[in-house]
Amino acid sequence: MSLRKPLALLLVAGALAATSVAIAANAPAGAGGAAAAALPANADLSKIEGIPELEGADIVRGKRMFSSAGGNCLSCHGWDGDGTGKNPRSEGAAALLRESGLDAAGFIQIISCGIPGTPMPYHDSQAYKDDRCYGMVAADFEAGQEPHKGKSIKKDDIVNLVAYIMTSIQGKPKATYEDCVAWFEKSAEKACAFMKQ
Ligand code: HEC
Repeated sequence: MSLRKPLALLLVAGALAATSVAIAANAPAGAGGAAAAALPANADLSKIEGIPELEGADIVRGKRMFSSAGGNCLSCHGWDGDGTGKNPRSEGAAALLRESGLDAAGFIQIISCGIPGTPMPYHDSQAYKDDRCYGMVAADFEAGQEPHKGKSIKKDDIVNLVAYIMTSIQGKPKATYEDCVAWFEKSAEKACAFMKQ
């Protein structure tokens, strides 16, 4: 989508405008508010500028893919990527995504292919059917060592997810109660009660 679209069109486009990172980020405060508000409050778009793998990525949709409505990453990693298991929404030890040193290609590979031998599942529905993942197919693994299968996520949405993680989780300080409220929006009161001092 062009950045030079007239504002009136942006407003009419409504939800459509919210699907474009570029437009949401450039929407003037107030006028384009609806679109801008849908971006995670702490998103830092400069983190993914110029990364070819992530061109055209939709962070708002990426956040949805991280949630239980999408790839359900938060069930293990926590909504904030803290992965400590202290968060009641996390199922125990998972990598602390806030401190991950992966780049875009690394995230794409791990989300697509998982990490065999750990609970981190793969999300590419074709993984281990051919050798796209680490050159391995399912038959190459010994019984009990097979990679776990997660929810299937399309390539575009894996890219959206990575853009979300890199702008809104990786390198961020530990989340606060206010971050939690901003993340959960409508369900915040219940979801964030455990963080309230
Ligand atoms: C069943 C629990 C589970 C689910 C669901 C899950 N993960 Fe993981 N993930 C893990 C665990 C455990 C690790 C750490 C594996 C290890 O290295 O021991 C991990 C590691 C990772 C890593 C590697 C981080 C690093 O710096 O090495 C990334 C990236 C990641 N997960 C992203 C995701 C995303 C995105 C989703 C959702 C699409 C997701 N995970 C879903 C359990 C899970």
